This record gives sequence, structure tokens and C-alpha cells, in this order.
Amino acid sequence: MTRIAPSVLAADFSKLGLEITDATQAGVDILHLDIMDGHFVPNISYGPAVVETVDRLTDVFLDVHLMLSEPEKYFEAFASAGADNITFHLEIHPDPQAHASQLKKLGVQAGLAINPDMPVERALPYLEHFDFFLIMSVFPGFGGQKFIPSALQKIASAREFIDRRGLSTKIEVDGGVDLTNTASIVAAGADVLVMGTAFFGAQNKKQRLQDIYSTLNVSPKKS
Ligand code: DX5
Ligand code: ZN
Repeated sequence: MTRIAPSVLAADFSKLGLEITDATQAGVDILHLDIMDGHFVPNISYGPAVVETVDRLTDVFLDVHLMLSEPEKYFEAFASAGADNITFHLEIHPDPQAHASQLKKLGVQAGLAINPDMPVERALPYLEHFDFFLIMSVFPGFGGQKFIPSALQKIASAREFIDRRGLSTKIEVDGGVDLTNTASIVAAGADVLVMGTAFFGAQNKKQRLQDIYSTLNVSPKKS
């Protein structure tokens, strides 16, 4: 079931509370929260306190994307802040299995992410340990960038691998997703589409979400 995961990085932080309740009332069932350390990526975003604030404002699934050089140092902090899933990058941990079990012990789901210049084959052997496989379609650090089309082939390879092995790992795509490319991203095999600017930039979020789901012939309500 295809789901849209708005990225809070693109929200208007001067009215974050309103933005989160708006998104929840619009029918969003998963929110994507980007954590950046200014080291693994050339930007700094926000920490556990903002995740905790969002967790107090909504019951939707909180999908935390750690763009940190030492993500394992913060697993506990984000798990207690209310994260339901915590994703870290394969670029940082060439052997990510141990961290997946660390996350499971904390009671959160585990996600593995790769940047646009990381071959998908490097991640496939680990996917059985992960609930999410996050394929970056921009180089991480900023919202509002252009979708990198080579992500589509990676999605298709991951889809084929996951289906052949009967894994339950969800394929998530992140960066530059908007109304012009959602159909090709879903056709390639993605399950969760992160959308920052294309969602929070919309005047009417409910209408935007309905428009996206109707172009995908998907019901806005999660089954
Ligand atoms: C980029 C982040 C993305 C970004 C998506 O480093 O990981 O989640 O916020 O924003 P858009 O959809 O505007 O590219
Ligand atoms: Zn992200």
C-alpha cells in the first residue's frame, strides 16, 4: 500500500504545531523527520526535542532519518523521543546488522539508507534485517532539490530482490518527490514516498494529499 510521508524539514517552523495538526487532519499517517549534524551532511536541522514535540502533537507513525556521522550514539534518545522507525546510512556503517538489532531492542523499527552514489547491490544483502530501505533520490542535506532519476533503477532492483526473497522490507524514496514523478516512482516499486516541499508548500494539504493519492489510484485512508 503506497503511502506519502511528508518531510517536516519543509514545514514552516514558525507555526510547527499548526503544520503538524494540519498534516494529521489532512489524513497523513506517517511523518518523516530529518536529523542532520552538519558533518555527515552540510546542514544542521533539529534534535530529539523537536521529535518529542511532534510526538506530543500527533499519533501518526514517526519515521526518523538520521543523517549523522555517529547515529548509534543517538538511537536511544530518538527512540525515547517517540520515533517509531529510525533510519541510518550504510555509508557510515559498512556492517549495519548490529545496529539493526540494537534498534529492535529499543522497540523501534530499523531503516537502512543509501545515497545516490552508493550502488544498490551494497545494501541488498542486509535488507532482511530492516523494516525500511531508504533510497535517496537527492544528495542529503536540504529539501527542495531536484529528483535524481537514477533512483528509479535502484528502486526496481530492490523491488525485485525483496519480492524474490519474500522480505517485508518497505522501499522508501526520499528527495525531490512531487506530483510529476510519483507515478514513475510507484511503478518502479516504491512503498513510501517522502515529500517535503511538494507537501508542506501546498496551500491546502488535504487537497494536495488527495490529489497525489488519486494520481496513484490509492485510497487516502490507510487500509
Ligand atoms: C534531504 C532529506 C529529505 C528532504 C525531502 O536530506 O532527507 O527528507 O527533506 O524534501 P523534498 O521533498 O523537498 O526534497
Ligand atoms: Zn529524509
